[in-house]
Formats: sequence, C-alpha cells, structure tokens
Amino acid sequence: MDSIKACTTLSNGVTMPWLGLGVYKVQNGEEVINAVRTALEIGYRHIDTAAFYENEEGVGQAVRESGIPREQLFITTKVWNSDQGYETTLKAFETSLKKLGLEYVDLYLVHWPVKGKYKETYKALEKIYKDGRARAIGVSNFHIHHLEDLLAECEIKPMVNQVEYHPRLTQKELHAFCKQHGIQLEAWSPLMRGALLEEPTLIDIGRKYGKTPAQVILRWDLQNEVVTIPKSITPERIKENADIFDFELTAEEMERIDSLNLNKRSGADPDNFNF
Ligand SMILES: NC(=O)c1ccc[n+]([C@@H]2O[C@H](COP(=O)([O-])OP(=O)(O)OC[C@H]3O[C@@H](n4cnc5c(N)ncnc54)[C@H](OP(=O)(O)O)[C@@H]3O)[C@@H](O)[C@H]2O)c1
Repeated sequence: MDSIKACTTLSNGVTMPWLGLGVYKVQNGEEVINAVRTALEIGYRHIDTAAFYENEEGVGQAVRESGIPREQLFITTKVWNSDQGYETTLKAFETSLKKLGLEYVDLYLVHWPVKGKYKETYKALEKIYKDGRARAIGVSNFHIHHLEDLLAECEIKPMVNQVEYHPRLTQKELHAFCKQHGIQLEAWSPLMRGALLEEPTLIDIGRKYGKTPAQVILRWDLQNEVVTIPKSITPERIKENADIFDFELTAEEMERIDSLNLNKRSGADPDNFNF
C-alpha cells in the first residue's frame, strides 16, 4: 500500500484502488469536471459517484477528457432508493451508464437497504454483473443483519459494503463480519464531513509526521484495510488527501485513533431512514 495506485483485490479478483475521490454534493458541470480532472492529474484512478448525486454526466466527461485508458480507471455508481426493484434497477443502470458515457462500470452498489426491495434490487445487480456490465457489485449502508439476509439468498456475494466509517464510528463488528465473508469495507464520509479536523489526538499524531488530521484519518483507513473516498472540490485538499502513502502509524497510534469511537453517525442509521 505504497502509492496512490495501490489496490485491494476484491473476492472476484477485480482490483480496486484503496483511495478514491468522492463527489457527493459536487455540482454537475464545471465543479465536478474540475474536481475529477484535478484528481486524475494527481494520480487518483477511482471515482465514487451515484445516480442520486446527479453529476454522473460531469464525471463521465472528465474521465473521457483525461485520455486515461478506461481499464486504468475504477468508476463506482449506485442505484437510488426510488429506483429499487428488479426492472426499475435494470432501467436505472442503463440511465447511469448513458449519463456516464461508459460501456461498463467497475462497481455498482445498492445505495441503501430499502426494506422489502433490496433483495430484488440486488438480483438485478447480479444480472448486470453476469452480463459483464459491472466488473463488481455490492451494497452500501448494510448492517450485519441486512448482509445476513442477503447472503442467505444471493447467488453472487456482494464484493463491497460502503458505509459511514471514521474515528467516531469505527464499526468493528461490521468490519469483522465483512472480512469473514470476503466483503471489502469502504468508508464514506471518512472525514466526518470535516467535523473531526480539530480533534486534538489527530492533531497530535499528525504533528509527529508533518501530516494534517485529514491525512492521519485517511492513513488510519488504509492501515485498517478500508477503502476510502474523501470528497473535496479544493485542489490543495484533493492533493493533500492523496499524500498519505509515505508514513506509517504505529500500533499504539492506531489504537489511540480507535479509542475516539463514540458510535456517532453524521448520516442516517440504515435501520431508520426515510428517503
Ligand atoms: N453510500 C452512501 O450512502 C454515501 C453517503 C455519503 C457519502 N458517500 C460518498 O463518500 C464520499 C465522501 O463523503 P462526504 O462527502 O460525505 O464527506 P467527507 O469526505 O468526510 O468530507 C468532505 C468535506 O470535507 C472537506 N475536506 C476534504 N478534504 C479536506 C482536507 N484535507 N482538509 C479539510 N477539509 C477537507 C470537504 O471540503 P471541500 O470539498 O470544500 O474541499 C468537504 O466539506 C462522498 O463524496 C460520496 O462519494 C456515500
């Protein structure tokens, strides 16, 4: 795990960069095009979008304009809650591909575990996977009980579970469960949307290495073997967030960061969401 291009290998053998750029709340058009262009210039090869973010066109445009061969990129998108169900998901996937201007995505995720619908939705993802239009499939915001429910019936195990994960929400049990089942954990809101950047422990640890609290958190993700997708539209920060491959936290520092856990969420609890 020594460069921005370092990858984890998913259960089906597909490689996925440990670091990606998140683009939630980034406006379609110039804003997202500039953020993705900057990230790709710096060396990011992994972009995390979703139908819900309404910026797939801009992501696709920036990817095409970069001239980087498609096979070197890892593009994730997700099916939104209102599109869940078998046929509706197949249709939503076509719309996403069209907006992205791509022939396939690298990872397609069920965005949230919508009750009574996520299993049908996942069946559509299995079809998309078998048809070769997503190189990997997975879920997002799934608790252990959602995964157990899905694993009992699915044909193809999800390769990834993307969840809220940061030093205030360390998700140890979920992480252990995912590891046991060969599901790669991926962190959304790794920086807790900026709320953790004044945290004294992180400042203290960062001082030793000449790194910022954001860099300390992202390094902690990597050393925990969690894929991470910090969002930024600020070129200096996009660069800063990728400058995490030249230092290593000690076991004691990892534990100090773990001890910041409060089981505190910045987003909704997957057992209790109304969207
Ligand atoms: N699956 C899901 O349900 C789900 C939910 C939420 C998010 N996500 C994904 O996860 C990605 C990341 O999560 P997020 O966007 O919620 O939050 P985040 O990455 O934890 O934080 C983003 C915020 O931190 C700021 N920031 C970024 N780098 C910084 C740095 N080095 N120093 C100081 N501030 C910094 C950004 O500001 P600027 O942009 O102004 O620089 C932005 O305000 C999303 O973009 C999305 O792709 C998925």
